[in-house]
Order: sequence, then C-alpha cells, then structure tokens
Amino acid sequence: MYAPEVVPADGLPASVTVYEAGPRDGLQNEKGVIPTEVKAEFIRRLLGAGLRVIEATSFVHPDWVPQLADAEDLLDLLEDLPGVRYPVLVPNARGLRRALDRGVRDIAVFASATETFSRRNLNRGVTEALEMFAPIVASAREAGAGVRGYVSMVCGDPWEGVVGVDQVVGVARRLFELGCTEISLGDTIGVGTPGQVTRLVRAVSGAGVPLEQVAVHFHDTYGQALANVLAALQAGVRTVDSSAGGLGGCPYAESATGNLATEDLVWQLQGLGVHTGVDLAELVATSVWMARVLGRPSPSPVVRALARAAA
Ligand code: HMG
Ligand code: MG
Repeated sequence: MYAPEVVPADGLPASVTVYEAGPRDGLQNEKGVIPTEVKAEFIRRLLGAGLRVIEATSFVHPDWVPQLADAEDLLDLLEDLPGVRYPVLVPNARGLRRALDRGVRDIAVFASATETFSRRNLNRGVTEALEMFAPIVASAREAGAGVRGYVSMVCGDPWEGVVGVDQVVGVARRLFELGCTEISLGDTIGVGTPGQVTRLVRAVSGAGVPLEQVAVHFHDTYGQALANVLAALQAGVRTVDSSAGGLGGCPYAESATGNLATEDLVWQLQGLGVHTGVDLAELVATSVWMARVLGRPSPSPVVRALARAAA
C-alpha cells in the first residue's frame, strides 16, 4: 500500500472534519435500489475506516427519492456509538417528525441559491423554501438536534448560469439566522474554481457565519474539487464533505456527477500532514466492496491506484 510523503503547506489547519455523504448523496443517485442491509453494511465499514460523521439517508418524500425510501428501517440497523453522528436530510415538518421519531440527533435542511433548482428540488421557490425551514430548524434545535443548512448551486447553476455571490450569501446568512449550526456551501454541478471558492468563503464569513461553522461540498464534475478544497482550507474552512469512492450526484440536477471522493481528499490531506482520523486502506477496501455491489468501478483515481497496488 502506498502513502504520500508528508510535506505540510502554509495556512492549513492541523485537522479537518471529513463529513462523509456517500450513503445519502451517493446512494440517492443510484438507478437501482440498494437493499437496506447493504446500506447498513456500507455505513459499518465507513465507521471501521474511521469516519465519524456519516450522512446516512433522507427523510424526504419517498416518491421523490425512492432510493432512500427505507430511511426508518436503515436507522433501526445503525449502532449508536459515542462520538459518531448520522445526520439525515429533512425538508419539512413531516420529515422532521419521521426523523425525531427515530431518535435522530442531527438533521440537514437543504436550500438553493437559485430559484430554478429550488423549485425542481423542493417544489418551492427560495423564499418559500426558507419559510418552510424556519419552524423545523427551530423545532429541531429545541429537541437538541444539530442542524446543518446546505446551500446548493453556489458556483453556478445549469439553468440560470452564473450565480451571484450575494445570492449565496443571502441564503447562507438566512439559514444561519434561522438557527442552523453549520452551513455547507454546495457546488452541486462541480463547475467552481479556487478563486471563486476563496471569494465565497470570505463573503459568507464576512456576512457573520463563523468559519468554524462553514463546510464545503464539492462535486467533481470538472475535476476541480481538490483544488477547491485547498482554497477553502486556506480561507479557514475546517469541515469538508466527500463521498466514499466518489459516489453521487443529484437526481434533480442532471449535470451533477459524483461528489469529491473521500479517498482523494484523504490522500491530499495526509500528504499535507492534516489529520482526518481516516484509515485509507480500510476506506479503499470499502469502496472496492461497494463497486462490486454496484457492478462498476469507482471513478476515484486514489481508489483505483491503491486497489491496484494492493492486488
Ligand atoms: P411536495 O410534493 O410539494 O409535498 O414535495 P407536499 O408538502 O405538497 O406534500 C404532499 C404529500 O407528500 C403529503 O401527503 C405529505 O404528507 C407527503 P398527502 O397529505 O398528500 O397524503 N410528504 C411526505 N411524506 C414523507 N416524508 C416527507 C414528506 N413531505 C411531504 N418528508 C418535498 C415537497 C420537499 C416533500 C419534495 O420536494 C421532496 O421530498 N424533495 C426532496 C428532493 C431531494 O431529496 N433532493 C436531493 C437532495 S438535495 C442534494 O442532493 C443537494 C446537496 O447534496 C447539496 C449540493 O450538492 O448542492 C444536499
Ligand atoms: Mg451534493
């Protein structure tokens, strides 16, 4: 098994929280439905690889995302472990009730910086969606849950083109004011480049969202995700979303391909001497196993290279 030489670079943190989104962002986009037991096994293996924040599923309308219609059954199979969080997506009051009934302690609401994606993804415009979130963020906080607020289409939108920084900042700030404990900036279609990311992170933090509460969420459609991560870390971000094996996409944004692969992220962070707590060999083994389940190879260069090296 190869490992990168460790050579730190300037302006980086000692450690980064890897927010593993594969079971949700990855599997929501699969053509077929993965059996619940296989999803639970995937999550168990991710835990075994050292991941401690694993977005497990979504309590959305089952007709909208049939791949995750087994959310209740999946949560019943997950072990409650100290220091481990299993956030779930929740769009509305019905979703929140379903999640709290299952003992969920971390939820995520998901807004869009753009009108078109908001309507396609939530059947509501941006303002209406934020109004839908207001009472559920409040109720979730009252119930003691952490609440992540996603902002999608932060670097561009397939229907609307360029997305203004002010649009992103406005939605991020509103989610923070509603009580979200973390804001994740999502380049849903992977078009962003590092200068854009630096500008965005500075603007969001300048608008009053503390950097410790900002996360970045990159899809790797144009191969920019790792460069964008570095820009975000140098701008002060400490939480990075990724998906084991680079699974993923969004069923309501056709131009979204896989998320940044967790293995690609961890290889880079290891080389930079940034602690993640992730065991790369275990993680690659998990993605190789998942690739076999899905019947296609992982798109992650690190998974492919390390799987070859281990063979
Ligand atoms: P709607 O059709 O407007 O729903 O959908 P409604 O509020 O009109 O309710 C209609 C019926 O659905 C009602 O039933 C509700 O009870 C039921 P009826 O009274 O008619 O019998 N219903 C539900 N049932 C179960 N669970 C629920 C639920 N809600 C309503 N939660 C809705 C609105 C928000 C529900 C729908 O648009 C939806 O589920 N959207 C989810 C789409 C989604 O999951 N997209 C992918 C995640 S976002 C993403 O991937 C981006 C991200 O990764 C970041 C990035 O990359 O940028 C996060
Ligand atoms: Mg996503």
